Amino acid sequence: MEVIVTNNYEELSRKAAEIIDSQLKKEPASVLGLATGSTPLGTYKELVKSYEKGQTDYSGVSTLNLDEYVGLSPDHHQSYRCFMDKHFFDLINIPKENTYVPDGRAEDLAEESSRYEQIIDEIGPPDLQLLGIGENGHIGFNEPGTSFESGTHVVELTPSTRQANARFFDTMEEVPTYAVTMGIHSIHKSKRIILLASGKHKAEAIRQLIYGEEDEQFPASSLKRHPDLTLIVDQEAYALVNEKG
Ligand code: GLP
Repeated sequence: MEVIVTNNYEELSRKAAEIIDSQLKKEPASVLGLATGSTPLGTYKELVKSYEKGQTDYSGVSTLNLDEYVGLSPDHHQSYRCFMDKHFFDLINIPKENTYVPDGRAEDLAEESSRYEQIIDEIGPPDLQLLGIGENGHIGFNEPGTSFESGTHVVELTPSTRQANARFFDTMEEVPTYAVTMGIHSIHKSKRIILLASGKHKAEAIRQLIYGEEDEQFPASSLKRHPDLTLIVDQEAYALVNEKG
């Protein structure tokens, strides 16, 4: 695992965008695995900036998002489809039909999960997967206890994850209880993984990721066995890591 420590969130976002931009230059028909949450927002801003300067072209790019809430329509302001359109897809020249997000309103969610896993295999695997991390070590919406062998599946969100995401909704009751998420095994299909973490509330998760053993109770620890993992963390998120361990 490679670890890049930046001074602050802005630098972290620039670094992540630089890696993605150079991937697109190397391979204009790249497949990008994308994440939501507040952490990658700065990265999307930087990517849009370089697109606006004419440095990148998304006409041949495809994207696969990690997850989606169950029950929210694609135009609900907190759906991950809406988030991606607003912060990224609507601001670049990517053909919308090349952007994939699980359908959280599918009638048969098990069928939707297998369909999405099939899409990952047909379109992907992603050349590069962007990831955030939950304070409890979740990646995508893979909560503690998720099998490392899991494909795309439906998950019940833990109270702590619902609480952490409540800030985006008007009331706690509106926060969805279920989500469809790529599984740990699905995430591992990516050729390269870039995990971002910013702020002191992520410091304990980063400490555990770096020093802890692989443990299904801490989903991000599965990433330790991925052959091409880069962590980009700012100093606050890196604060509990020291040379002695
Ligand atoms: C949500 C998303 C994850 C994200 C996590 C952390 O649960 N499903 O993909 O990594 O939140 O979000 P944030 O970056 O806002 O801390």
